[in-house]
Amino acid sequence: PGYVVWGEKLLEWYRANQRDLLWRERKDPYRVWISEVILQQTQVRQGAPYFERFVQRFPTVESLATASAEEVLLYWKGLGYYSRALNLHRAAQKILAEFGGNFPTEYQQILSLPGVGPYTASAISSIAFSQPVAAVDTNLYRVLARFFLCSVDISTSGAYRIFSELALKLMPKEWPGEFNQAMMDVGASVCKPLAPLCHECPLREGCLAFSRGTMEEYPVKQRK
Ligand code: ADE
Repeated sequence: PGYVVWGEKLLEWYRANQRDLLWRERKDPYRVWISEVILQQTQVRQGAPYFERFVQRFPTVESLATASAEEVLLYWKGLGYYSRALNLHRAAQKILAEFGGNFPTEYQQILSLPGVGPYTASAISSIAFSQPVAAVDTNLYRVLARFFLCSVDISTSGAYRIFSELALKLMPKEWPGEFNQAMMDVGASVCKPLAPLCHECPLREGCLAFSRGTMEEYPVKQRK
C-alpha cells in the first residue's frame, strides 16, 4: 500500500544528487525526444556532446524535417546505429505533415513515430508531458528487480509490462518525469550491476534484495 513513500524518498535524493544534463534544462518534447533516441544505445557521457551539436543545428522539428538525410547523418557520425538518425528525420517529416509541426502529446501518437518504442514513448510522455507512465530502461529493470525481489526474466516478452506496473507502485503521480529520471540516475550511480553502493541508496530500507544481501542476483536475465 505505502510503496509511494519510497518514490518520495527517491525524489528527495534526486533533487540533491541529479546529474546536470543538458536535456533536463527544459521540458521541450523535441529535445527530450532527441536525447532519448541518442541514449537508446549510447552512454550519457558519449551522447551528451552529440545532443548539444544536434539540437544546435536542428533546434526544431521543422529544421530537422527540412534538412537533407545526408546532413542529419553527418551529425550522427560516430554514434552508430544510423537507422536512429534516419528514423528521427522521417519522424520529423511525419510530425510536420500530420501534426502541423507540433510534437504530438498523446502516448499512442508518440508511439506511432518511426524509431519510437514503448520505452521512448513513455520517457517523452512522462518527462515532457507529465503523464504517469513508467519508462523502463535497463537501470529501472535492475533497481525494480532488486527492490521488489522480482525474478521475472527481463529478456522475456511480458517483462516490460510487469516491471512498468512495479514502477507505478513507487511513482509519485505528480512527478512522473522526475521519478523516471531519478530511477535512471540511482540505477546508474548507486544501484550498479556489480558491487552496488547500497549505503548511499535512498531505497535501501525498503529493498528486499538488500535485506537478503542478494543484490547481484538481480535482475534475472537468461544467458544468451
Ligand atoms: N538514459 C536514457 N534517458 C535518460 C535520461 N533522461 N537521463 C539520464 N539517463 C538517461
